[in-house]
Amino acid sequence: MEGNRICALFEIKYPLIQAGMIWCSGWELASAVSNAGGLGIIGSGSMYPEILDDQIQKCKAATDKPFAVNLPMLYPDIDKHIETIIKHKVPIVFTSAGNPKTWTSHLKAEGITVVHVVSSVKFAKKAEDAGVDAIVAEGFEAGGHNGRDETTTLCLIPMVAKEIKIPLIAAGGIGTGWGMLAVLNLGADAAQIGSRFVATPESSAHANFKKVVVDSKEGDTMLTLKELTPVRLIKNEFYREIETAYNQHATTEELTQLLGRGRAKKGMFEGDLVRGELEIGQIAGLIDTITPANEVVNEIISEFQLAVKEQNSPKFQF
Ligand SMILES: Cc1cc2nc3c(=O)[nH]c(=O)nc-3n(C[C@H](O)[C@H](O)[C@H](O)COP(=O)(O)O)c2cc1C
Repeated sequence: MEGNRICALFEIKYPLIQAGMIWCSGWELASAVSNAGGLGIIGSGSMYPEILDDQIQKCKAATDKPFAVNLPMLYPDIDKHIETIIKHKVPIVFTSAGNPKTWTSHLKAEGITVVHVVSSVKFAKKAEDAGVDAIVAEGFEAGGHNGRDETTTLCLIPMVAKEIKIPLIAAGGIGTGWGMLAVLNLGADAAQIGSRFVATPESSAHANFKKVVVDSKEGDTMLTLKELTPVRLIKNEFYREIETAYNQHATTEELTQLLGRGRAKKGMFEGDLVRGELEIGQIAGLIDTITPANEVVNEIISEFQLAVKEQNSPKFQF
């Protein structure tokens, strides 16, 4: 794919990125995706500093291809994570959930390519002004933490593409090669995929959670807790507790108390499907199998190539 700006920037074969995901994307998933020609990302938001150190070393041993680390900027020990990333010469960092001005110049001074994740045009422009090399724009459909504005991928990507000059990666609701072609047609240079990669043997998610993803149908997820950090999750018992709290006009403090600590770990890593937080995107309704990560990459790229050819079909002649 010579000519694709993201392939050139990251030095990868396919403009297909496996999203950084707490409790789900460790070195096994990231290295498998990078070895398959995409870009794998280690999700450092759920890792103690020494765990991240170990994960980066294992990823480097498992692939000689580029990979990245996702750094949610709310992370309490962020200085230590940054030290580790620099020490191991990780080539690419995806920052999220914070102000891109805080760390971009520091990381770039170390020769690291910096990408920032946003969910609105306003923050995309701010990230470009902060000097990042590329932007991920994430729509309302996406799994995990998200913006408050509910802008869908279909609307967000062309709006961001119109306003920024640097390469743009689309995220949220992409699970097939047809989805990937759609976002490229909307103005993105690449696709970032999270939920689809949760249902792989290499993902560190608990088997119970992977089964829920495979079994889930359209309508099984919801974006909630906008007063805290908005998050899209499966509508399980924990979600129903939140719903009850809203019906009883719970205050932000009461919601914080209900959320407590460690809910995401309990659900996604320990497999507690009742009390845990199960973060996943709307596209889960289309995910029916647990498939090795390299096969997911190959399948999506084959579908993408087919989808490109299909644009010559009669449907497009009018
Ligand atoms: C289980 C899960 C955990 C996630 N954790 C993070 C995270 O730690 N940092 C982050 O920037 N985004 C996180 N996300 C969002 C993804 O990086 C990605 O942008 C999103 O999954 C894309 O939408 P999709 O789920 O429709 O593919 C998470 C998503 C999921 C499904």
